[in-house]
Amino acid sequence: MAVSKLTIILSLFTLLSTLLQAKSTPQIKQVKVQDQDAQPFVGVNIGTDVSNLVSPSALVSFLLVQKITHIRLYDANPDLLKALAHSKIRVIISVPNNQLLAIGSSNTTAAAWIGRNVVAFYPETLITAISVGDEVLTTVPSSGPILLPAIESLYSALVAANLHTQIKISTPHAASIILDPFPPSQAFFNQSLSSVIVPLLQFLSKTGSPLMMNLYPYYVFMQNKGVVPLDNSLFKPLTPSKEMVDPNTLLHYTNVLDAMIDAAYSSMKNLNFTDVVVLVTESGWPSKGDSKEPYATIDNADTYNSNLIKHVLDRSGTPLHPEITSSVYIYELLNEDLRSPPVSEANWGLFYGNSTPVYLLHVSGSGTFLANDTTNQTYCVVMDGVDSKTLQAALDWACGPGRANCSEIQPGENCYQPNNVKSHATYAFDSYYQKEGRVAGSCDFKGVAMITTSDPSVKLKF
Ligand SMILES: *[C@@H]1O[C@H](CO)[C@@H](O)[C@H](O)[C@H]1NC(C)=O
Ligand SMILES: *[C@@H]1O[C@H](CO)[C@@H](O)[C@H](O)[C@H]1NC(C)=O
Ligand SMILES: *[C@@H]1O[C@H](CO)[C@@H](O)[C@H](O)[C@H]1NC(C)=O
Ligand SMILES: *[C@@H]1O[C@H](CO)[C@@H](O)[C@H](O)[C@H]1NC(C)=O
Ligand SMILES: *[C@@H]1O[C@H](CO)[C@@H](O)[C@H](O)[C@H]1NC(C)=O
Ligand SMILES: *[C@@H]1O[C@H](CO)[C@@H](O)[C@H](O)[C@H]1NC(C)=O
Repeated sequence: MAVSKLTIILSLFTLLSTLLQAKSTPQIKQVKVQDQDAQPFVGVNIGTDVSNLVSPSALVSFLLVQKITHIRLYDANPDLLKALAHSKIRVIISVPNNQLLAIGSSNTTAAAWIGRNVVAFYPETLITAISVGDEVLTTVPSSGPILLPAIESLYSALVAANLHTQIKISTPHAASIILDPFPPSQAFFNQSLSSVIVPLLQFLSKTGSPLMMNLYPYYVFMQNKGVVPLDNSLFKPLTPSKEMVDPNTLLHYTNVLDAMIDAAYSSMKNLNFTDVVVLVTESGWPSKGDSKEPYATIDNADTYNSNLIKHVLDRSGTPLHPEITSSVYIYELLNEDLRSPPVSEANWGLFYGNSTPVYLLHVSGSGTFLANDTTNQTYCVVMDGVDSKTLQAALDWACGPGRANCSEIQPGENCYQPNNVKSHATYAFDSYYQKEGRVAGSCDFKGVAMITTSDPSVKLKF
C-alpha cells in the first residue's frame, strides 16, 4: 500500500476540522437504498496455504457448524465446489492473476472457464460472483490492459449461459488505487489508472455489480502511527474530540473502515458514478507478528473482527451513505502457516488449519454468524460423513492409549445409548479434548473430529 502523503493530509484534516465548523452541505444520495432481500452479511476468505488442510467435505461441515454462509475462494477448486453443493453456502470464486492473459485474449478460453468452473456446479453450488484477478492494478500493473477484456469475455460467456443476472463479475482492488483518502470527500482514483477504472466502472454500473475493495485499517494504522489512533482503527468507542471530521461534509468518522469506504464512494462520484455499491472483499487484523508488528496481537485481532462483525450486522452504513451497509469478507478463515514472512502473513486467520479457534470472537447478540463464541466453552465432535470403520479405530485409540474417560459409554452406563459408534466416538473425543485442556491439536483424531461451540450432550442426549 502506498499512502505516503497520508500523514500530512491527516494532520491537515484534523486542523481543518477545527477551523471549518460552519459549512454544511446536505448529502445527495443517489445510490439506491438497499434491496430488502439483500441484507448485509459477513463472509470469510478461504486461503489454502495451510499444512494438513482438512478435506473439502470436512471444511464444508466446519463452515456449516460455524454458521458461515458466505465465502470467497482464491481459485475455483473443483473438489471444494463439489463439496459445497446443496450446502446453501454462497460462494465467490476467483480467476487467479496468472490466468488473466489467457482469458482476456480469447472468448473461447473464457467460455471454457465458465463452463468448467461455473456451469458445471451451478445452481447446486450457489456461486454468487466471480472475482477476476486480485489487486491487479497494484500488484501486476502490466496485466491492467487485459483486465477489462477478461471481465467482458467472462461476462459474455455468462450471458450465453443465461447466468448473468444471478452471478456478478468484478475485480478486487487494493486501497492504494485511491489517493488522498482522508478526508474521504477529497479522495480520488489514481489518474494514471483511469484508462482501466473508467471503463470498469461503466461495466459495473451497467451490470449492477459491486466495486470490490480490499480495505485494511490495520495497514492505515501501521503506516500512520501517531496520526490515526488505534481505537479509531479498532472501532472502539471514541471521545468526540478524537472523531475525525471531514471538513467538507462535516461528517464525523468514528472508525477508519467507514472512512475508507466513503473514500471509494467519493472517488466514484468524482468520475460521475453514483450507482455502484462497495463490497469489502477483504478486511481483517493479524493476531501475531514479528518485532516490527507489535500491534498484531490476539487482543487487537479479536477486537477488530468482533467489532467489524457487529458494525456490519448493525446495518448503520457509513456517514456518507447511512442507507447502504457494505457486506464484508473477513480475511481470513484459516491461519495460512505456509506463507512467507513477515510473521503476520501467516496469522490473519480466525482458526488454525485444524479448525481450532485462534481466539474467540465477541459477537453475541449480533445475529447468527459464529453466534455462540462468547461462551468460552468448545467441544470436540465427530465430523459428518466419516465411515464407521475409521471412527471405530479412532474411538479405540481415544479410550485406550489416549486415556479418555470412557466409563460412561460402557453397556448399562448413562451414555451407552444411543449405542452407535458416532455418539460413542463423540463422547470419547470430547472427553479426551477436555482432559487435554482443549489445546490446539487435541481434537483431530486423524482428521475425523472437529471443534464446535454447541454442546454435543444436548444433541446426543447423553
Ligand atoms: C469476444 O466477444 C465480444 C462480444 O461477443 C467481442 O466484442 C470481442 O471482440 C471478442 N473478443 C475476442 C478476443 O475475440
Ligand atoms: C499511480 O499509479 C501509477 C501507475 O500504476 C503508479 O506508478 C503511481 O505510483 C501511482 N501513484 C501513487 C501516488 O500511488
Ligand atoms: C461529471 O459531470 C459533470 C456535470 O455534468 C461534468 O461537468 C464533468 O465533466 C463530469 N466529469 C467526468 C469525469 O466525466
Ligand atoms: C477463556 O478461557 C481461557 C483459557 O482457557 C481463559 O484464560 C480465559 O480467562 C477464559 N475467558 C473467559 C471470559 O472465561
Ligand atoms: C470418569 O467419569 C466418571 C463419570 O463422570 C467419573 O465418575 C469417574 O471418576 C471418571 N474417572 C476418572 C479416572 O476420572
Ligand atoms: C448455540 O447454542 C445453542 C444452545 O446451546 C445451540 O442450539 C446452537 O446450535 C449453538 N450454535 C452454534 C453455532 O454453535
